[in-house]
Amino acid sequence: MPVITCIDDLKRIYKRRAPRMFYDYAESGSWTEQTFRENVSDFDQIRLRQRVAVDMSGRSTATQMIGQNVAMPVALAPVGLTGMQCADGEIKAARAAEKFGVPFTLSTMSINSIEDVAEATTKPFWFQLYTMKDTDFVSRLIQRAKDAKCSALVITLDLQILGQRHKDLKNGLSAPPKLTPATVANLMTKWRWGIGMLGAKRRHFGNIVGHAEGVTDAANLGAWTAEQFDPTLDWGKIARIKEEWGGPVILKGILDAEDAKMALQVGADAIIVSNHGGRQLDGAISSIKALPSILDAVGDQVEVHLDSGIRSGQDILKAMAMGAKGTYIGRAFVYGLGAMGEQGVSTALEVLHKELDLSMALCGRRRIDELDRSVLMVPEDFAGRWQ
Ligand SMILES: Cc1cc2nc3c(=O)[nH]c(=O)nc-3n(C[C@H](O)[C@H](O)[C@H](O)COP(=O)(O)O)c2cc1C
Repeated sequence: MPVITCIDDLKRIYKRRAPRMFYDYAESGSWTEQTFRENVSDFDQIRLRQRVAVDMSGRSTATQMIGQNVAMPVALAPVGLTGMQCADGEIKAARAAEKFGVPFTLSTMSINSIEDVAEATTKPFWFQLYTMKDTDFVSRLIQRAKDAKCSALVITLDLQILGQRHKDLKNGLSAPPKLTPATVANLMTKWRWGIGMLGAKRRHFGNIVGHAEGVTDAANLGAWTAEQFDPTLDWGKIARIKEEWGGPVILKGILDAEDAKMALQVGADAIIVSNHGGRQLDGAISSIKALPSILDAVGDQVEVHLDSGIRSGQDILKAMAMGAKGTYIGRAFVYGLGAMGEQGVSTALEVLHKELDLSMALCGRRRIDELDRSVLMVPEDFAGRWQ
């Protein structure tokens, strides 16, 4: 059993064990990957203020996100094709999240279906919705999420059209994988993954195949998804979906203060400052740099969450001290899952928790609600003066 001390350890094992096509799918950003890189490197610009001789006993990372108790302010972000990183990946990740006491968000583009995850867990999870042209299908998805007792709907706004990741095109990414000679050669070296997949409950998109008109198998799925994302999505449609859902709504993919104000107007319960992990608009600013202006605009009226670039508990601490009320991890849990399945996701959460807890202590803070900007040393022009 390897000694895991940080998220990077999990990433190294994940790289060895997962098929190249799926590793590349997770570990890339759009076009030049500038935004993907800066999501991580911009966190490094912020420093923590060390304090000493403060009673550190009785610490807790527990808090709430949208009124729900969480063991630490971290949710698992929706990640498409999670069940291709590891057999039954969504079920395993959801179970690890449940055991740890943090929310799991199931992607519309998951391999395990809403019903699969509901059956394998005992507490409500969150469902992420991509709006599609087929409104009947969207309504059925919403109903299925309600039937499964999902406790929040996360509507993703930054993927009306798909950003381009060069590696996915070159690898011919698909679920199940396209069997080109190169893919077969690579898969032969991934025996652990292959054995797992042989016994997997599903190998293509569980929320779609058999549920969307005309999609009966993976062959016609590709064409369906390519033309299904809704380029006409607007705030009116978002308001209608919120009404149809009737429960807590989190709007994901806000990077601009003006959009944050619109999200407020449609009555979002929370917004996620996010650039989709650098997978959509390459050249957009990092989420952590976008956070201050969005907090200034709406922070006192709506819960502001953040994702993109979180790889450590120190990053979580920085986002929370800046003023976020919760964070999400995408790749950080995928690394764990691809490395060691459910145990790997648990390990990722434990690593982040330990880093968050110790960093809080060394900053002289014992509770999440004691975190504020005085914990941080932020470069003067951190958010930048963009014209
Ligand atoms: C492999 C992968 C697949 C993703 N799929 C989805 C998805 O289906 N729906 C969605 O809203 N976001 C999706 N995202 C974006 C994540 O929800 C989240 O915004 C992002 O991963 C955060 O950045 P991080 O990976 O640096 O933590 C995906 C991200 C990755 C890495």
